Amino acid sequence: MRILSIESSCDETAISITKTSPKDWNGKCFKEIKVLGDSLNSQAELHSEFGGVYPNVAKREHSKNFVPVLTHTLLQANLLQRIEKPSVSKDKIELIKETLSREPELFARLLLFLAQYEKPNIDAVAAVVGPGLAPALWVGVNFAKALSIAWDLPLIPLNHMEGHFYSAFFPEKIDNTIGAFKLKEAEYPILVLLLSGGHTEIVEAQDVLRYRKLGWTLDDAVGEAYDKVARLLGFTYPGGPKISELSHKYEEKLSKSQVQRNPKIKLPRPKIHDNDLNFSFSGLKTAVLRLVNSFSELTDEIKEEIAYEFEKAVEEVMVSKLTRAIDAGQYKTIVFAGGVSANKRLRSSLKKLADDYNINLYLPPLKLTGDNSLMSALSAHTRLQVLGEKAYLEHNKFEAKSNWEIDQALDDLLENTR
Ligand code: KG4
Ligand code: ZN
Repeated sequence: MRILSIESSCDETAISITKTSPKDWNGKCFKEIKVLGDSLNSQAELHSEFGGVYPNVAKREHSKNFVPVLTHTLLQANLLQRIEKPSVSKDKIELIKETLSREPELFARLLLFLAQYEKPNIDAVAAVVGPGLAPALWVGVNFAKALSIAWDLPLIPLNHMEGHFYSAFFPEKIDNTIGAFKLKEAEYPILVLLLSGGHTEIVEAQDVLRYRKLGWTLDDAVGEAYDKVARLLGFTYPGGPKISELSHKYEEKLSKSQVQRNPKIKLPRPKIHDNDLNFSFSGLKTAVLRLVNSFSELTDEIKEEIAYEFEKAVEEVMVSKLTRAIDAGQYKTIVFAGGVSANKRLRSSLKKLADDYNINLYLPPLKLTGDNSLMSALSAHTRLQVLGEKAYLEHNKFEAKSNWEIDQALDDLLENTR
């Protein structure tokens, strides 16, 4: 099967074309995936000026970028073939126009594209329909519908958090995203920690495509807390990498005894002693604000120490909650994924935790920690393999679902395809 997968849940416009073979399916997972094409356009730099992602700016950028990203992906996959004369019927063009009525720029670009290129040799179009920013999601959803109309292909709806889960099955080190990748084996149940800009959850993957949420944040997501703390310290979006860099700088100085801990720089570890798997980060952010305001001048060293203390607080809370979850279950594997899984400190402290318990830790390669379409592609192939035609959704039901929970993703789909 060859699937074209589309991602636009936040500020990344991404498309991949991937191939799997049923002979590589072992009953729970694929042993291999071939990536024929994979292109991504990140808007992060644009949003950094505003200090965060503006949904309508993201929508505008996705509308502008989808056709160039598609063209590039098809070119990589060797599937971009010029046509002699346009083959998409007038009726279809009318339907595509209606589908993209809220994205006129995207319609104009797609029309030009369809007038020039053949239908590529693919079997289905998949797109992330949620969770994410509604205006951004809708562009990908409508674009997927338009391609499915133009090329007579079925549509597969995907869950963004399930995609992050699947990112961890790619080899931990990859230099290039094109090629054939041997995948890690899935042995259920799997304990899953998903940390991103919008989500903080501990999930039990009970079986293939079956999830149960065990814990979640009562307020801010961890990535959001990283971004807000970075802003308080005077840095732009996305804040995670910057906080991580400062914190490591401080830790190195500390290890060489070049600095001494300031007793004033101490932050709470929210909910660390609570007997549940939930999180809360808004108090931590407020505590950072108070700390920042208590200094008449924020020197580089104070910023570094605040970043270090903040990371230690997040790390201790995560390790404590995961320890609780491991103790309560029977897991052979932990998956840690989502944008925040790029964090060096968390990667190494969870590795140590997994080693202590003699459990596997699956981490995505750094290239796939942020939003991308390869992770969604693996979820699309798995859905199609397990569900067959039930993985498809009709056009009139194919819509953005900005709050689509991972544990609802299968039930909602089966309900809709009944
Ligand atoms: O999954 P993702 O790319 O987008 C969402 O689905 O939200 O996650 C983005 C989040 C941002 O909040 C960003 O600051 C955070 O991931 N992030 C990090 C690091 N790199 C990105 N957080 C901590 N440490 C990092 N190295
Ligand atoms: Zn994400």
